[in-house]
Formats: sequence, C-alpha cells, structure tokens
Amino acid sequence: MDSIVIQGGNRLNGTIPVSGAKNSALKLMAASILTDQPLLLTNMPRLADTKFLGRLLKALGVEVTERDGADGQETLFHGATISSTFAPYDLVRQMRASFNVLGPLLARTGEAKVSLPGGCTIGARPVDLHLQALTALGAEIELDEGYVTARAPKGLQGAEIAFPIVSVGATEHALLAAVMANGTTVLRNAAREPEIGDLARCLTAMGARVDGIDSDVLTITGVSSLGGATWSVIPDRIEMGSYAVAAAMAGGEVRLTKARADLMQALSAKMVEAGVEITPTDDGVIVKRDPAQRLKAVDLTTEVYPGFATDLQAQFMALMTTADGQSTIQENIFENRFMHAPELARLGADIAVHAGSAVVTGVPTLRGAPVMATDLRASVSLVIAGLVAEGETTVGRVYHLDRGFEKLEDKLTACGADIRRVKGDEHDH
Ligand code: EPZ
Repeated sequence: MDSIVIQGGNRLNGTIPVSGAKNSALKLMAASILTDQPLLLTNMPRLADTKFLGRLLKALGVEVTERDGADGQETLFHGATISSTFAPYDLVRQMRASFNVLGPLLARTGEAKVSLPGGCTIGARPVDLHLQALTALGAEIELDEGYVTARAPKGLQGAEIAFPIVSVGATEHALLAAVMANGTTVLRNAAREPEIGDLARCLTAMGARVDGIDSDVLTITGVSSLGGATWSVIPDRIEMGSYAVAAAMAGGEVRLTKARADLMQALSAKMVEAGVEITPTDDGVIVKRDPAQRLKAVDLTTEVYPGFATDLQAQFMALMTTADGQSTIQENIFENRFMHAPELARLGADIAVHAGSAVVTGVPTLRGAPVMATDLRASVSLVIAGLVAEGETTVGRVYHLDRGFEKLEDKLTACGADIRRVKGDEHDH
C-alpha cells in the first residue's frame, strides 16, 4: 500500500489551483441518470470517488467519457438508455454517495434496487431521511437482505417534506427525485451547502424548475423530462480550506486560485482569529502567516453551512496542535469524527477527547512519526501536521487521500513542501 512521506519544516510559498468539488461532482454525476441527453461536466476532479461512481453509472448503462477539454478536465455522461436499475453492494459499499443513484433511477425508470451503504468510520450515517423523502414522493420501498427495492409505477408525486434534521445527502436525494415528479414538491429545513446550490443550478440548466436555491426551503415544480447541459463543477471549498490550513500551519504565503473566497468564510474567520492573514482575491484567497509568530488557540464548533464545516474539523485541529493556548473543538455533525486525535498525538500533540468534543492544548513542536487515518479529511490533517513535525512523518493508507484530494503531493511540492509518495513495496523494504 502506498504511503506519503513528509520531511517537516519547509515553509509553503506559491500557488495552488483548487479542483472541482468532489461532493458536488458526485451528485451532478447522479443527475446524468435523469436524462437521455448528454451531460458534460467541466472542472471535473479526477478522484478515486468519482471513478467509483463512474463505474456504477456505466453498469447502469450511462456512457462515461473522461477527456481534456478547453477548460481542463471534463467528463461526458450520456445515459441514452438505462440498461440496468440494479446497484450492487460491491459498487455501493466503497462509497456512500453511490446510494444517491436510487432517486434518479426511480424518477427515470420507475424502479430501482440499490444496496444500502452501511455505516462508516465517522459514524452510523443512516439513510432513513433519504427513504422517508422518497416514500413521501410516492415510492413504494422495501428493505430486504441489505437492498432497497423502490417502485413508482405511476411516477413520483410532488409532496411537502419537512426534514427533522438538516441532511446534505437527503436534501440532494429528494431534489434529484422531485425534479421529474408530478406536481410541486417543497423541501423544508433543507441543507444549504454550496454543493446543493450547484446541483440545483445544474438541474435548472437541464430544464428543471427549482425556486429558493441556497435557502432552506426548496420549491420544485416537476417537469416531464430533462435535457442535457454543460456544467462547470463548483470549486472544492474543503480542498481549498485544507490547503489554507496547510499554509497557515507551515507558514509562508500561498495563493489559492480557481476558487471562491465566499465558500470558506467560516474557516477564514477562525483562521484570522488565530492570527493568520487571509486576503480574498478575484478567484480565491491569499493565505499568509509569519512563521516567527505562534498562532493563538481558538475554539470551534462544527455546524451545517454556513457554519464551520465538519469536513474541515480535522485540519483545524492539526493547526491548533501547535497554537498558543487551549482550543475546544466541538463536533456536532458526526458522532465519531475524532479518529485523527490519537494519530496527531503520535506526532506529539496534546489532545483530550470527551464524547463530542476535543480539548487541544498547544505544544511548541511536533515530531515526525508513522501515522495513518481511516477517512480522507483525517488523513489530510496528518499531512498538514507532518509539514511542521520535526523529521519524517509517514502517512499510511493513502487511498483515503486519493478519494478526495487530486494531485496532493504535486500541489504541495510546487509550494516547497518536502513530500513524496512511496509505493507499497518500496516502503516495505
Ligand atoms: C455529506 O455527507 C458529505 N458527503 C460529507 O463529506 C459531509 O461531511 C457531510 O455531508 C456534512 O457536511 C458527500 O457529500 C458525499 P448528512 P452526508 O446527510 O450527506 C445524519 C467527505 O469527507 N443523517 O448531512 O452523508 C447523519 O448520520 C464526506 O467528503 C441521518 O440521521 O451527510 C449525520 O449525523 C464525509 N439520517 C447528519 O445527519 C439520514 O438519512 C448529517 O449528515 C441522513 C443523515
């Protein structure tokens, strides 16, 4: 298995282009099932996760063509006919977002059988809200032997759906199903993450009618069919935030481009409070930190958007490990999202976890060590800590990073980091 090996201590100076958002791309890809016309997604990240979902879409009959376009990497999805409505366990278990093909399959063909995704390392992550929404839209749902079988022989029907808690996936799933339902659907207490706005706008470009985009009430007027579109995937605010934190951790000056400053406002506010200089630009931000000055510890609570993203919690915790003072980090979205804490402790961090919160007491320096993590955001937090840890840090299980970070080593190397990928057998010697 590959590892990432980092020699800590280098400053970061340079430019990092931000890729298209994984968590938007995955839902936009699912939207391709809704039309027999081509959907061209530009600014597409090339990640293990987009590859997984591409494999599933192909199994359903969607042609998937990756290519280089005028605007960089793009992928053409063309589901002229849906040849299968079955999403097997093997193609869903590797990545939960695959479950989101259920709604579009149902909307397009009136039936689907999709494996339940199961839990994962950051929490139980049930799909009850997804199923409640589809049921409200008129789907008949049966659960059997780990599969969801759903039918809507007369098509889906518009409905009023009030989510009891805010869920990104359930909001997106309901939206994907409702755009072709008969009548009007109202989604209340909808999630407002920018990736949902991106999906709603792409669906609108395909002919859907969605009002209230970016608010917590989405009103969807069903249409009988959707057409093709060309859509540029929104910049990845989590990738952007991860490199912003990396620059703050290592010190130096990094310009993040092909991005949007407004997508990381909650993070920027916390970084500024800690003593980092953040300057918005036309296409991103400049992150600057004087390495001679120690950052200040600040407290943090993860929340739904526009609050502080749970997907940036691990990275910010890494930043706090060497800050001056004590930082309390409260995780409100997932029940088990501190697995990076014991790994950061292997690098010398002082972190005490009590249920949903972690208290980080800043230490002057970290020391390199072998570490590994069990999810992708946790993995990148270890890379960030490795950038300042004295000596060598080896981050194992790199496949987690490959799920969500495109060309991570290249992007950091271009700014002066000493980081390289070591192939499994090379490292074993
Ligand atoms: C999305 O997950 C993201 N994944 C996650 O990013 C992200 O952490 C999360 O949103 C929150 O921002 C993708 O977009 C592919 P939720 P999702 O439904 O949709 C509970 C990453 O690293 N819940 O908003 O699964 C759930 O257990 C990933 O890129 C139910 O109880 O998140 C959680 O506690 C990790 N029942 C809370 O809601 C349901 O049916 C929020 O989850 C659905 C969710």
